[in-house]
Amino acid sequence: MNTIIEARDVVKRYKDYPAVRGVSFSIDKGECFGLLGPNGAGKTTIMRMLCCVSPLTSGTLKISGTDVGIHQREIKAIIGVVPQENNLDPDLTVLQNLIVHARYFDISSRVAQERAESLLEIFQLSEKKQSRINTLSGGMKRRLILARGLINNPTVLVLDEPTTGLDPQARHFIWGRLRQLKSQGITVLISSHYMDEAYRLCDRLIILNNGEVIAEGRPAELVPRYAGREALEIDVSRTGVDGILEKAEAASAFIQRVEDTVYILGNDLEAIRSELREHSDAVLYRPTTLEDVFLRLTGRTLLQEQ
Ligand SMILES: Nc1ncnc2c1ncn2[C@@H]1O[C@H](COP(=O)(O)OP(=O)(O)OP(=O)(O)O)[C@@H](O)[C@H]1O
Ligand SMILES: [Mg+2]
Repeated sequence: MNTIIEARDVVKRYKDYPAVRGVSFSIDKGECFGLLGPNGAGKTTIMRMLCCVSPLTSGTLKISGTDVGIHQREIKAIIGVVPQENNLDPDLTVLQNLIVHARYFDISSRVAQERAESLLEIFQLSEKKQSRINTLSGGMKRRLILARGLINNPTVLVLDEPTTGLDPQARHFIWGRLRQLKSQGITVLISSHYMDEAYRLCDRLIILNNGEVIAEGRPAELVPRYAGREALEIDVSRTGVDGILEKAEAASAFIQRVEDTVYILGNDLEAIRSELREHSDAVLYRPTTLEDVFLRLTGRTLLQEQ
């Protein structure tokens, strides 16, 4: 068996609030596995349990057959973590942040120095190694946290929204590094709000909603399975939709209104689209995405909080 991470009926309750409600998944060695879902869905909570930071209420969570509740030291030694929040030490330089982190893993100072220098090179931060954290841009901080997560040569990398807030160039840079790490056989668990990021990077993913898994699969399979091939977004504040919705229903498309936008998802929307030709300013015709999978399953967009 090639499974490296196994979650079975994982539950996390904060006092009475069930943040994670019986989540199961398994991740193969070398896979990039995604956790998607809106704010509050439970992504960070799952990652914190996996990283032995927060105990499970019930269920089991294992890495390489080792229970996260029991063998925390062994697990912490083999995982690299990029938390959602930037938690670099502002009193230390870029280089010192890496070296101090290496101490948690009992890495000798000579090896720590070598690894830190090489990681700064890989993440294009060598020129900043003596800089203070507050002089770095958001993208540099994120790159440094990623470098820090690799200081212990982890076999599993846990990335909580690694590219949130970054510009497209910085995101592409990080995607490139992650692909390299994956090609070296590192297993990656990543959460993201960017559907394009998940689509590009993840071999498989789960979509979470209210602490439950609502869909699981390969991105390229999930989209046609749940959302069909085509999407129309109609701004109903700018056009009348009378009659259009009946046509969409007749074409057995999925229709959902979210505020002033009506979303129509289906496999052949050509007839509806031609009906809307004179309203072209208010209509967007596009291929479906993972975002539409979420919409189809919950009736909400990913931007709406629970
Ligand atoms: N320490 C805590 N104490 C109480 N409730 C918490 C705690 N941490 C998280 N929660 C709650 O658990 C739920 C899941 O939170 P979590 O941070 O896992 O969501 P998320 O999917 O990571 O969201 P985001 O996309 O905003 O990062 C939320 O309702 C949150 O308010
Ligand atoms: Mg989170």
